[in-house]
Amino acid sequence: METILTGIRVNGELTLGNFLGALVPMVRLANAHNKNHNINIFVPDLHTIISDVDGDLQKNIIKSIKYYLAAGLEPNENVYIYRQSHVSAHSELNWILNCVANMGELSRMTQFKEKSEGKEHVGVGIFDYPVLMAADILLYDAKYVPVGEDQFQHIELTRNLAIRVNNRFDKEIFTLPAKTLDQAKFMGLDGGLRIRDLQNPEKKMSKSSKSENSKIMLSDDPKVAAKKIMSATTDSEANIKYDMFNQPGISNLLQIEALVNNVPLQEVISTWAGESRYGDLKQKVAESVQTFLETFQAKLDLIPDDIVYELLEAGENYANKVASAKLSTVQKAFNLR
Ligand code: TRP
Repeated sequence: METILTGIRVNGELTLGNFLGALVPMVRLANAHNKNHNINIFVPDLHTIISDVDGDLQKNIIKSIKYYLAAGLEPNENVYIYRQSHVSAHSELNWILNCVANMGELSRMTQFKEKSEGKEHVGVGIFDYPVLMAADILLYDAKYVPVGEDQFQHIELTRNLAIRVNNRFDKEIFTLPAKTLDQAKFMGLDGGLRIRDLQNPEKKMSKSSKSENSKIMLSDDPKVAAKKIMSATTDSEANIKYDMFNQPGISNLLQIEALVNNVPLQEVISTWAGESRYGDLKQKVAESVQTFLETFQAKLDLIPDDIVYELLEAGENYANKVASAKLSTVQKAFNLR
């Protein structure tokens, strides 16, 4: 069976944008393929500590798994949930791959450049981030790795490292993850899904934005979230249509409306076609977001920690088996065993 693998960092709260744009599509994908694929969903806690963590990391980890469950993930016998730091093979393969990767290619990673630019102290962890990520993927021979566009470069690096190792030993030690374009096709994503900042809709909604009105956090009071929608930036066209380029504010609202109600965007677009009253649209989206958050938060509260720990125990048992078998193959190839 082929493996689909993904993880989301847990540095703090998620925005509605992270949730609708990354986590929910992942859950749909997992539920659609859990009969004939292994679904590995892991918490990259070692990646999380490369920078400051907001709040309590242990709590963030448990909460992030509850997010998947509250979003509707159906955990069947092919779904494995585990913590990166609880499967030591990740760190061990990370080291071996460090001896395969070179400084030049890692220095060219956009994420590294952005995070290190102008900084006096740059952690080695930030530099090495993509190599650990390659280990996360290659240990499980994962074919599909749903990630945001900002991570595509890391998938390409993973392919390159795998090819290098396979060539060096003239053996198919690692399965190559699919090329990023093929990944996007498999996932049925057009790559366009990005919830925008409510105040500056040209930008992506971001947790790090200074303005509270720009972003909706999953933990926001639902009524406050509704107010944020009411004060969202729009435009002066007085025409409700989906045009991310010229009317990003209105288009963003249409997109949010579709996602929180789980209906196709096209349906929302045609419902509002020809309308001109932005206030009506905002009112509707505000109500939808409020109801969505109320329902989601209630669901989250109902999931006991015990369920999460049970899933982790089973997932980590499995992950340790699969990952240590692969690690052992690699260690033998490098003549370490
Ligand atoms: N880099 C991913 C992110 O920032 C998280 C991640 C770490 C990941 N290792 C991974 C995702 C392996 C997919 C596969 O969200």
